[in-house]
Amino acid sequence: MSNAAYDAVCTHPIPPRMRNGTEVPFIGPNFEAYKKAHAETVGPNADQWWAQMARELLHWDRPFQTIRSGSFKTGDIAWFPEGYINASYNCVDRWAFEDPNKTAIIYEADEPGNHKYISYGELLREVSRVANVLKRFGVTKGDTVSVYMPMTWQAVAAFLACARIGAVHSAVFPGFSSEALRDRINDCRSRVVLTADEGRRGGKAIALKALADKALEGCPHVEHVLVLKHTGSENVGWVAGRDKWWHEESAKVPNYCPPELLNSEDGLFILYTSGSTGKPKGIMHTIGGYLLGAALSVKYVFDVHPDDRFGCMADLGWITGHTYLVYGPLALGVATTVFESTPTYPTPARFWETVDRHRLTHFHTAPTAVRLLRRLGESHVQNADLSSLRVIGSVGEPINPEAWHWLNDHVGRRQAAIVDTFFQTETGSIVVSPLPGAIECKPGSATVPFLGHEYALLDPVTGKELEGSGVEGVLVFKNTWPSIARTVWQDHNRWLDVYLRPYPGYFYTGDGAVRDKDGYIWIKGRVDDVINISGHRLSTAEIESALILYDGVAEAAVIGANDELTGQAVHAFVTLKREFKYDPTDEPALAKELVLQVRKVIGPFASPKKIYITPDLPKTRSGKIMRRIMRKIIAGEGDQLGDLSTLAEPGVVDVIKAKVAASA
Ligand code: PRX
Repeated sequence: MSNAAYDAVCTHPIPPRMRNGTEVPFIGPNFEAYKKAHAETVGPNADQWWAQMARELLHWDRPFQTIRSGSFKTGDIAWFPEGYINASYNCVDRWAFEDPNKTAIIYEADEPGNHKYISYGELLREVSRVANVLKRFGVTKGDTVSVYMPMTWQAVAAFLACARIGAVHSAVFPGFSSEALRDRINDCRSRVVLTADEGRRGGKAIALKALADKALEGCPHVEHVLVLKHTGSENVGWVAGRDKWWHEESAKVPNYCPPELLNSEDGLFILYTSGSTGKPKGIMHTIGGYLLGAALSVKYVFDVHPDDRFGCMADLGWITGHTYLVYGPLALGVATTVFESTPTYPTPARFWETVDRHRLTHFHTAPTAVRLLRRLGESHVQNADLSSLRVIGSVGEPINPEAWHWLNDHVGRRQAAIVDTFFQTETGSIVVSPLPGAIECKPGSATVPFLGHEYALLDPVTGKELEGSGVEGVLVFKNTWPSIARTVWQDHNRWLDVYLRPYPGYFYTGDGAVRDKDGYIWIKGRVDDVINISGHRLSTAEIESALILYDGVAEAAVIGANDELTGQAVHAFVTLKREFKYDPTDEPALAKELVLQVRKVIGPFASPKKIYITPDLPKTRSGKIMRRIMRKIIAGEGDQLGDLSTLAEPGVVDVIKAKVAASA
């Protein structure tokens, strides 16, 4: 969309369920109410407001005195530093003591009908047992534990068991390959890994233990592997002494484990994410601040009330799973959903049957799933009773207006609110989003900064703040907030370099954004070499490194191109070593091998959609690959390449154009 086009998009009124619902929205009924609430949470009152929220929403074992210290300038951020707080106690015990029978987790298994409700009482026992097992393995405060688990309710218990004893969990998305898992286990030096015999998705088994075993061949520090018997597969490799069954170890330990006394600034988890360079960064979050951001945003962005049933479809291996499946809903004591399946298994009605079956009040997913379901037609959504839904969330990538309208018309049926929520692994919780009872939405805009957050758009070159409306710049945040990450695991300098030094005094998101005439924010996507495939974040450098590891590959250049279904798709340009022998009449065979190479090093979700084998890549005379040229050619703008005079070999452009045209 051109920047002027943003101004033409109409707003949608606050939907009926937010206006006349049984629960009065926390913030409403209009923009004025939001403005007033936001103004009270920033500026001179900000610290007092954050302190009040921290006391209201969380249980502190020892009260804090200081609210915030440090800044983006100095990179020494701390929140509630004298406070002591346990995330597991906050998410489980409080509610289990109040009502042990209240549902904590709705587990929607891969096979429809195999669902299960786990109460807070049951969750407390499971969390305690796993915590006690970890203790028997010698895990103590500050140790890391890698979690490579399928979407099971026990995976949630695994996070909370670590949190209970002060261990730092490092979850790895089960779609990552053995090699990617190995790197992540080694980077944070876990001695313990939690996994399962197999995962299940869309009727298919995923050999998680076998993948973990392969990874562990290269992980000399790992001493214990705790294996959940999930599918009961007969075919599970076993390393005696190292591997232990979850149920057998759990049977040896008591059902209660006291929560550890932990400082607000102790580590809660590491989550690896992709940046501009090849090596993933272990983003580090700490307890008190993160938990406050999670609870606060679930409460206000989703307008969650105590009897709600929250349904976040994200995988536990991503930040959305951490914040909006585990910590946020459970810190508020509401039910949360673990959805093990896919949007289309066994039919494209699966999401809606799940909402109907469990009377979910909130449904949160990524635009890519909405695009897929929209394409498959309305018939699949029509038969479900979706009247329980009050708020529908979208996250992970910009939502295109067609997908937004589809959600609004066919899922929300113009009764429920839609919130397009923007955040990042680094921000911990939502930083830009509508508040459902107060903000009239414009499809495609994440709208306004969340309570307590102040943003700016900067001129990327001068770093000056852009004032007024109708401007486009890089999105940054001023002033710290509790759930902002604190560092990159074992690499504080990298944290400073990537996020805090580019524009001193600000947190740099890496995203570009537009502010329209009404002050609404439109996220335009990454301005760095990060690409977003179906809401999964990857760096082009990471995929290039994977390709270069293939024997015959000399060079690789990867770009993200728009894709109707997945948002962006990977297009890879590859040159081969001169001595490499292959059959040039069968390039598809080689391309297939290269796709397999990426799957092997990173995982299936990173698979290139297209591979172009070319004799050369467009480079400057100093040897820098000009990805801009390939991006334009793929976008069909090969006639608008601009100044090519810096190219070392201008002839290569035509070769690439021909390759791309031939494969279209
Ligand atoms: O580019 C933005 C995009 O996802 C990036 C963050 O990725 P990750 O850390 O993996 O977290 C994904 C889940 C929050 C951002 O830099 N992004 C996230 N949400 C939105 C978005 N882009 C546009 N609109 C959103 N609502």
